[in-house]
Amino acid sequence: MTPNPERFLADLHQLRSFGAAGVGKGVIRPAYSDADIAARAWLADRMREIGLTVHQDPVGNLFGLAQQPSLLLGSHSDSQPEGGWLDGALGVIAALEVARASREAGGPPVSVVSFEDEEGRFGVTTGSAVWSGQIDLDTADALTDHAGVTFAQSRARMADLAGDFVDPAQFTGYIEMHIEQGPSLDVAGEQVGVVSDIVGIRDMRLTFEGQQNHAGTTPMHLRRDAFQAVTTFNAAINEKFRNVVTPRTVWTIGHVALHPNASSIVPGRATFSMQWRDGDADRLARMETIIRTTAQEVADAGGLKLSFGPMLGLEPVPMDATLRAALEASADTVSPGRWRVLPSGALHDATNVARLMPVAMLFVPSIGGISHAFDEDTAETDLVAGLNVLAGAVTRLNQARA
Ligand code: GLV
Ligand code: MN
Ligand code: MN
Repeated sequence: MTPNPERFLADLHQLRSFGAAGVGKGVIRPAYSDADIAARAWLADRMREIGLTVHQDPVGNLFGLAQQPSLLLGSHSDSQPEGGWLDGALGVIAALEVARASREAGGPPVSVVSFEDEEGRFGVTTGSAVWSGQIDLDTADALTDHAGVTFAQSRARMADLAGDFVDPAQFTGYIEMHIEQGPSLDVAGEQVGVVSDIVGIRDMRLTFEGQQNHAGTTPMHLRRDAFQAVTTFNAAINEKFRNVVTPRTVWTIGHVALHPNASSIVPGRATFSMQWRDGDADRLARMETIIRTTAQEVADAGGLKLSFGPMLGLEPVPMDATLRAALEASADTVSPGRWRVLPSGALHDATNVARLMPVAMLFVPSIGGISHAFDEDTAETDLVAGLNVLAGAVTRLNQARA
C-alpha cells in the first residue's frame, strides 16, 4: 500500500478546525464538547467514504469497522482543556489514511477507532477504560469533571448515535501512533520511537476543609486555611518522595479549586488533584501511602478535615512482541539509524486495549518536547515518516498472517 502524505496532512489540518484555538496550532476540544461531537461527525463521514462501517458505542468511542478479522488502528480525538493539534488526532488520522491506502491496494482490512475522553475529563482514558472492562459503566457514570458534571450526563449528549459496545474478538491487534510528548526523540534528532512499555498511573482528588474567615481580622495563628494546607502538603511530599522515586517517576498537582476563591477571604476549602506515574506498580503503591499519611498529618496539625475521592489507576503495560517487531522492522526501513525503542511516560488508550488484544505503539518527535499546550507541534516530514512506519508494519503483519 502507498499512503498519501498530502491527503493525510490535509485531514489532520481539517480535524484541527474543530476547536481550533490559540496562536499556533492549538485546540480546545474536550470530550463531549460541541467541537468534539462535531469532529466525530466529520470523522464518521470520512470513515463511511472509505467503505468502513461506522459504529459509535454507548460512551462515544467511534469505530470505522472493516471486514473481519482486521487490525485496529487509532487513538483519540478529544483534547485537553488546552491542547495541541496532534495529541490523539495524529493516531486517528494516520489510521484513516492507512485504512484508505490499504483499501485502494486491495487489502488487508484495517479498522479505525477514535476513543472518547482519553484526556480524562472524567477519569483516566475513560472511553477505552469502559470498553475494555477496566472500569464498569455504572462506576464511570458517577465520575464528575471539575465543574461537577457527571459522565452519565455528558455521554447522554451523544446517546442518539449510540449502539452497543463493539465485540473486540474481530480485531487481531491494536496499533496506536502518537506524538512522543516528551523530549527524547527531538533532542536526539531521531524520527521514530517504538514503544517498549507504558507507565502506570494513579489519580485522585483530595479535599482539605478548614474555616472560611475574614482575611483582615483573623490572626495568622488562629487560621485554618485550606490553601496553606495544600502548599504544606506539596512541600512535604516532595521531601518524602526523595527516598522512593527514580528520575522517571513524576507527580503533579494540576488542578486546585479554592472556596470561595476571593482575595479577602481565608479559603475554607481546597479540593485538588494528585496524580503520580511510574513504571513500577510497587512504587506507585508506596507513593500512595506517603500521600495519604502526609495529607492526614497536615490536616491534623492544622485542625482541618481531610477527605479523599476515588483513586483511579492503570497498571504499567508492556507492548506485544510481535506487533512491536513489525514496527521496529518498518522503522528500520523508513528511518534507518534514526529510530529507537523507548518507554511511554504518557498514558494511552493502548493500555486499556491491552486487556483485549495484543497492542503496540509508535511515536514521532514533539518539537521541544512540548505537549498538552497550544505550542505542541511536529515537523511534517516526521509526521509522514511515522505514517509510513505504521503502513509498513501493517503490511508486514499481514504478510506474516498470510
Ligand atoms: C494522556 O494524555 C496523559 O495524560 O498521559
Ligand atoms: Mn494522547
Ligand atoms: Mn493527552
